[in-house]
Amino acid sequence: MAFLLLFLLSFVFNSANAQPRSPIIEPGSSLSPNNNSYWLSESGQFAFGFYPYGNGYSVGIWFENIPQNTVVWTFNRDDPPFTGDATLLLSTQGRLVVRPTQGQEVLIADVGNAASSASMLDSGNFVLFGSSSEIIWQSFDFPTDTILPSQRLVNNNLVSNVSETNHSSGKFLITMQLDGNLVQYPVGAVEMVFGYWNSKTYGAGNGVSLNLDSDGHLYLQNATGFNITSLNNKVAASGKPIYRATIDADGIFRLYSHSSNRSDNWFIEWSSSDNKCDPIGLCGQNSYCVSMEGEPVCQCPPRFVYIDEEHKDLGCRKNYSLVACTGRNYQTFNFSKLVDFSWKDSDSYLDVSARTENDCRSECLRDCNCDAALYNNQSCKKLKLPLRFGRRDTSSQTITLLKTGGELAGPGTGKRKLRIDILITSLALAFSTLAFLVLAAIGILKYRSRVREYRSHVQEYERILHSVNNRIAEDVALKSFTFEELKDATNNFVDEIGKGAYGTVFRGLISDGNSDGERMVAIKRLEKVVAEGERDFRNEMRAIGKTHHKNLVRLLGYCYDGTNRLLVYEYMKNGSLADFLFKSKLKINWEGRVEIILNIARGLCYLHEECETQIIHCDIKPENILMDEKGYAKIADFGLAKLLMPNQSKTYTGIRGTRGYVAPEWHRNLAITVKADVYSFGIMLFEIVCCRRSVEADVPENEQVLAHWVYDCFKANEVEKLVRNEEVSKSKLERMVKVGLWCTQDEASSRPSMKKVTLMLEGTVNIPDPPLLSSFVSSP
Ligand SMILES: *[C@@H]1O[C@H](CO)[C@@H](O)[C@H](O)[C@H]1NC(C)=O
Ligand SMILES: *[C@@H]1O[C@H](CO)[C@@H](O)[C@H](O)[C@H]1NC(C)=O
Ligand SMILES: *[C@@H]1O[C@H](CO)[C@@H](O)[C@H](O)[C@H]1NC(C)=O
Ligand SMILES: *[C@@H]1O[C@H](CO)[C@@H](O)[C@H](O)[C@H]1NC(C)=O
Ligand SMILES: *[C@@H]1O[C@H](CO)[C@@H](O)[C@H](O)[C@H]1NC(C)=O
Ligand SMILES: *[C@@H]1O[C@H](CO)[C@@H](O)[C@H](O)[C@H]1NC(C)=O
Ligand SMILES: *[C@@H]1O[C@H](CO)[C@@H](O)[C@H](O)[C@H]1NC(C)=O
Ligand SMILES: *[C@@H]1O[C@H](CO)[C@@H](O)[C@H](O)[C@H]1NC(C)=O
Ligand SMILES: *[C@@H]1O[C@H](CO)[C@@H](O)[C@H](O)[C@H]1NC(C)=O
Repeated sequence: MAFLLLFLLSFVFNSANAQPRSPIIEPGSSLSPNNNSYWLSESGQFAFGFYPYGNGYSVGIWFENIPQNTVVWTFNRDDPPFTGDATLLLSTQGRLVVRPTQGQEVLIADVGNAASSASMLDSGNFVLFGSSSEIIWQSFDFPTDTILPSQRLVNNNLVSNVSETNHSSGKFLITMQLDGNLVQYPVGAVEMVFGYWNSKTYGAGNGVSLNLDSDGHLYLQNATGFNITSLNNKVAASGKPIYRATIDADGIFRLYSHSSNRSDNWFIEWSSSDNKCDPIGLCGQNSYCVSMEGEPVCQCPPRFVYIDEEHKDLGCRKNYSLVACTGRNYQTFNFSKLVDFSWKDSDSYLDVSARTENDCRSECLRDCNCDAALYNNQSCKKLKLPLRFGRRDTSSQTITLLKTGGELAGPGTGKRKLRIDILITSLALAFSTLAFLVLAAIGILKYRSRVREYRSHVQEYERILHSVNNRIAEDVALKSFTFEELKDATNNFVDEIGKGAYGTVFRGLISDGNSDGERMVAIKRLEKVVAEGERDFRNEMRAIGKTHHKNLVRLLGYCYDGTNRLLVYEYMKNGSLADFLFKSKLKINWEGRVEIILNIARGLCYLHEECETQIIHCDIKPENILMDEKGYAKIADFGLAKLLMPNQSKTYTGIRGTRGYVAPEWHRNLAITVKADVYSFGIMLFEIVCCRRSVEADVPENEQVLAHWVYDCFKANEVEKLVRNEEVSKSKLERMVKVGLWCTQDEASSRPSMKKVTLMLEGTVNIPDPPLLSSFVSSP
């Protein structure tokens, strides 16, 4: 239809100031901010050209016939504006470019030299035509924050402005997903849990589009043309002729109407949300959104202050500095409390059960890693700051405890200690002869009150002792067992549940410290420990014992007895990831696999960068990833490489991981760093993505070495081959594959750190294309 129109109206467009009615723009035409020229659509509704922005001009499309001159599209919105002497040109070579007086020419439409003419259409779509008048590029395919009637959004995003006056990419996006759902997310956190609005059309299939009609009907249509849902129920009866749907800077998606009456303003016909605090991420770290008279306000928790008073949405920081928490002073800390707030990104490093809020407090108190805890229905999530995505949420029934204090250090600690000493002495005396004397001297009433007092002292003493003991049991010293004890626990090592590089694993039962019950554990009998001396061994155990992360298997105790070396771990009854991937008939679905990859990446990142002493695993593979009852993946056997090779500094010569997973530097006798783990992680990532072993014999030859095959598929832009019969978003799959390809780079220094890997996986950072041509080194 557009072509027909063009033939009918094939005027030649010479000069913008002449305001001709023809929409055809011929090669050689140009615009400049200096003479205020632009290209108009036929009815004059839309204009394409430079508009004033910041201290210069940007290229975009705007409503020309209403006083607001609302911008609906911006070219390279995140680039700085052009200066007044730039020109925009449809060159005779067929390129649409901006030429600044200084610097490089900027290509607006990436169509090579193929443009033979252009037109600003009356729909608000700016198009380039090829030699046979077919549309080869259109601004509708690259929307910024707005769609217009007749524009469709398929497998694409709209991203909000920074603010009403700043058109750079802001904090929120709305995306028409491949799964058929239209979802709003904070930018940089496109994960299901962070979606704050959706059209509830998950599963409607590939190719669903968001559409806006000229009568203001906003709806989703599936690939075969069925209207699957309407977003606005009542089609505007106002009969206003102008509509647009925009994701606003505040994160809410709105449908606006406007009459052609020049004194009119934009009118909101529909919005995705009525509560302006709904968009997740409106307020920055450690702050939360509160709705005040309908307007969202970012607030700081008690004892926190705004990072920047002028920009309250940037978040909050502590207005105090905590003294370093150690095993000695942990009791001097205190908490401030918030009731009924939720933090969407409450990704705790450890979830523990706690009967009461107070139990949760003491859990967090005696763990120096814990900055904050969320208590809800007997569960206590321990977190590190910053907290993200907070809002008041009365349905959350969550208590937020933020660790404060530290100012009380020094004298506070001293006093408390003193009191314990006095207590011990007085207790000892009180219940012996003194009690009698006191009784006699002071009389029964006073005696009673003293007893009450003593009782409460005893209780407090017990409480403190309990938490000290617990703490010691938990992270200062692990429980040390004798060989006999563990022999009993495993019933003389009969129940073998696995065999690994370091030794054999048995199931066992030990008594549970806190109750009378017994606890199932996994006991690993090490077979080739080289670590000399009890002290070294204990030091290693302590380092491992201090690691607390929900994606690491927990070490509970050890045995150093004669020549026997055993380790006691929490028991993971669901077995290893290898069982799930390669043996199980039921396949873990794509989302589950992505989650597992993230779990492992987080655990490994903790080992490499966050725990007290850096731990290189050296044997990352699916056999060493265990699955807990909730389906979380946990890394096992970390820290053991060091036991095998005591005096290593950087080179762990001798030990090698497992064939197929080891990094090239192992074969080259180079220094082994954390990047060796990154390599193994990459190989394992491919295995998880494809649900197959890294090397397999009974597949076509080009697929035998998984890493090579993945590489070939990526190069050929055919990653979907890797997950046959599964419906997976290609862009997500590609993201995973790219991360894996980066991790398996030959050169250790080219591989990203695990921190970077987690960010890449979470979608927080862009992933550049991995270098093509890198060659994989297979195992000898
Ligand atoms: C505006 O400036 C551009 C670039 O200098 C020029 O090509 C164009 O003809 C000018 N238009 C008018 C109306 O002067
Ligand atoms: C718009 O916001 C971006 C990012 O916050 C900033 O870098 C840029 O300078 C702003 N531009 C203007 C014109 O204010
Ligand atoms: C986005 O920014 C541009 C330029 O500042 C402005 O004209 C437009 O109205 C903004 N859009 C919204 C929805 O705020
Ligand atoms: C579109 O929806 C119709 C009606 O629900 C359904 O029959 C059709 O299969 C759907 N098309 C696709 C591609 O899912
Ligand atoms: C879908 O809705 C649009 C807008 O209301 C309407 O024009 C179109 O006919 C509908 N299509 C179907 C198949 O119902
Ligand atoms: C234009 O809108 C204003 C305010 O809504 C109204 O007072 C005026 O009558 C309208 N004019 C026309 C011509 O519709
Ligand atoms: C921050 O701390 C300082 C000194 O402790 C205090 O004077 C100030 O009032 C605090 N600010 C807020 C907002 O609590
Ligand atoms: C901890 O805070 C509570 C309530 O704010 C207060 O009553 C208590 O004295 C504080 N404890 C210490 C040790 O500062
Ligand atoms: C608390 O958790 C238990 C078990 O996880 C569950 O059965 C119960 O319904 C929960 N209670 C509330 C109020 O959410």
